[in-house]
Amino acid sequence: MKLLVIGSGGREHALVWKLAQSPHVTQMWCAPGNAGIAQERLAKNSSAVECVNLGAEDLPGLLAFAQGKKADFTVVGPDNPLALGIVDLFQSHGLRIWGVNRQAAQFESSKVFSQKFMEKYGIPTAAAGTFSEAGPAKAFCATLGGKCVVKADGLALGKGVLICASQAEAEKAVDEIMVGKAFGAAGANVVIQEFLEGTEVSLHALCDGKTAKIFPTSQDHKRALDGDLGLNTGGMGTYSPTPFLNDAQLVDVAKKVLDPFMRGCVAEGIDYRGLLYPGVMLTRSGPKILEFNARFGDPETQVYLTRMENDLLELLAACVCGSLGSLELKWSPLASVCVVMASGGYPGNYAKGRPILGLDAAAKLSHTKVFHAGTALKDGQIVTSGGRVLGVTALGRDLKAARAAAYAAVDEIRFDGAQYRRDIAAKAL
Ligand code: AMP
Ligand code: GLY
Repeated sequence: MKLLVIGSGGREHALVWKLAQSPHVTQMWCAPGNAGIAQERLAKNSSAVECVNLGAEDLPGLLAFAQGKKADFTVVGPDNPLALGIVDLFQSHGLRIWGVNRQAAQFESSKVFSQKFMEKYGIPTAAAGTFSEAGPAKAFCATLGGKCVVKADGLALGKGVLICASQAEAEKAVDEIMVGKAFGAAGANVVIQEFLEGTEVSLHALCDGKTAKIFPTSQDHKRALDGDLGLNTGGMGTYSPTPFLNDAQLVDVAKKVLDPFMRGCVAEGIDYRGLLYPGVMLTRSGPKILEFNARFGDPETQVYLTRMENDLLELLAACVCGSLGSLELKWSPLASVCVVMASGGYPGNYAKGRPILGLDAAAKLSHTKVFHAGTALKDGQIVTSGGRVLGVTALGRDLKAARAAAYAAVDEIRFDGAQYRRDIAAKAL
């Protein structure tokens, strides 16, 4: 099979690496890919994965490429092309593609849509209101004593969520989003949730329109600095499994969330085929959903796919053709830890083009895989080209061993200004 993967981050490198192991794959392209993706080879015939200079949001360009190359299957990594309707577009031209369609992508592209859906179908979530005007929004914040989270409805590069500790802060947040239009049209409507205390975990489930299959647990580290300090980022590191939810509790959460989710989709005529990634807060009164993402997490994918024992292509194909119910997800009992190495200054301004040294030494370590995110090849040298640069991922017999192995690999790698957290998975030990 000839495969096209869309995206360029660490998640996409993990997807490409895992899909390249499938005996069904004879040729693979990645648009636009990165320097690490370009080094991957297919298990079937050792041919190289080819990076194609097309942006993930260039829908007409991607369609023309897939048609021209007669790609048999396309896999979409990031949220933007999904929200833009790439799945609908490819399908309308008779192409097979994995990812949610535009209607289903609303679970991520509209927080108002998600919040209303959760309330309608009894999915446990924060007490919340949705608003299109600042006055009533502020009045609702007051009913929560100002301790709330104000969220712009639309996609805002992960920045549209403001956590408030007082009514004054909440009013400022509402004004910023709704009056000052800090996130443009994405902030025309807002969701305001009560502030929930607890431990946050990431869940992933593959869905085929009827059946949802849950992955083991994982946990991300969203803040830039050790001890969960500093600015919110796309994610500075992950590990799986997390001890904060045992197997029985995971089954229980899956029942409370995935059953009503799939039922609600069927009732609303939403054909959800792809990945569902609920962000969950484990509170004293049980698990509550903070948000839905409609794609694989980054860097959750890096720890999940290093543990996955299935042929990923078979699972993704089963999502598309509605046969997921007949497959069983299989996971390594080993633990996985991913430490993100970022450019100095991320998530603010950072330099690009810094040479990355030590990748060969790290590649020699067993049970270790260095996934590339913001990297590029310049004059034969791999250099930094983004905020999150690498996802250094290792397996171990338990989290302690996996963590030690991941940091041993990090110690081999150097680039000017490299910034990473020293405490990934530490809370689990
Ligand atoms: P979201 O994009 O909705 O997941 O929000 C981004 C981050 O804000 C989450 O990962 C949480 O850490 C935090 N957050 C969101 N909603 C809440 C809430 N209701 N209570 C506490 N923290 C929240
Ligand atoms: N790890 C956070 C995200 O993918 O949204």
